[in-house]
Amino acid sequence: MAKKRFCLMDEIKKNPIALLGIAYPYFIAAVVVAGVYYITTIDAVYENKLAPYLPDSTLMKTAIDVKKPSVSEPVELDAWRGEPSAELTKLGEEEYAAVCQSCHGAEGEGDGAAGAGLDPAPRDFTAADGWTNGRTIVDLYTTLQEGVEGTGMIAYDYLDARAKVALVRYIQAEFMTDPPEISEEEIATLDAQYNLSQGDSVAGRIPVEVAAALVSEDRADVEALAAAALNAIENERAADPNAALFFDLFEDPERATLTLAKRQTWTDDYDEFVAALALAPETNGFGYEALATTEETSRAMWRYLSNIFANRKAALAANGSS
Ligand code: HEC
Repeated sequence: MAKKRFCLMDEIKKNPIALLGIAYPYFIAAVVVAGVYYITTIDAVYENKLAPYLPDSTLMKTAIDVKKPSVSEPVELDAWRGEPSAELTKLGEEEYAAVCQSCHGAEGEGDGAAGAGLDPAPRDFTAADGWTNGRTIVDLYTTLQEGVEGTGMIAYDYLDARAKVALVRYIQAEFMTDPPEISEEEIATLDAQYNLSQGDSVAGRIPVEVAAALVSEDRADVEALAAAALNAIENERAADPNAALFFDLFEDPERATLTLAKRQTWTDDYDEFVAALALAPETNGFGYEALATTEETSRAMWRYLSNIFANRKAALAANGSS
């Protein structure tokens, strides 16, 4: 009898479950390949998906208010004693929010966005250990007064004494778990060092934008005055020997008028005029020759230029205010 040839399709038709047995090794192989691929690429998959959160602290600006240089009001030493008053707490809270919170965080934990990239990180006020200067009122006040060198903690000595006292008390009361006791000795130390009860002098502060505007306004005034003066001298060149002398004597008339316009005091004071000539003769526009002239000539020059500048200044002021 003819031997029936083995045929896979016939076997499967007879017993469909056998298909599973044939497919199984392929299935296992596919799972292993997929698993290996997943494991070898998993890092790259995650790295690509998570964007780091790194705020650019240089873009965070808080405008400070304009403050005239002043002698700070005395702070009564009772501000250190007992619970801080409501008024002192409010001041501390406001100053903290305006000046410190960006780095030290709303809860004082050193996690403010502007401090994110700093090394060392801003101090976590709630931690008891790891302080550079320390947690007593003397330590804290000193930190504010002098900053911590080589860190993002700059000196805040420009704040007035009352604001600094308020900040120290606020940080201790609001953020520290077990603030150190305030001793009479510490109060006396601070008073002796910083004249708190007498009042101390405070440097003025203005925002950079305002300062830049003031400087450029000044410069525009100075340039306008210099140009007007030069123009006036030029116009008198033929008629007035002093005007002619000005152009003979001074190396760079344009620069010389600019130097004079920048300095305010020489018009009333001959010595100041001579000092202006002598200061940096290679760049001030007068040149060395002007220094070597006789006193008579230089006095005549001074009188002539004083007039010109005073007139031009008055004319510009009249124009500016009308
Ligand atoms: C630009 C970010 C920044 C700002 C704004 C800032 N600080 Fe700091 N501050 C720091 C850093 C950074 C340190 C950590 C210095 C260190 O490790 O000693 C620090 C540390 C301190 C310390 C602890 C010093 C010590 O003994 O360890 C005190 C207190 C403090 N700051 C108070 C203030 C107060 C109050 C203000 C607001 C007037 C303020 N800081 C504003 C960055 C800042």
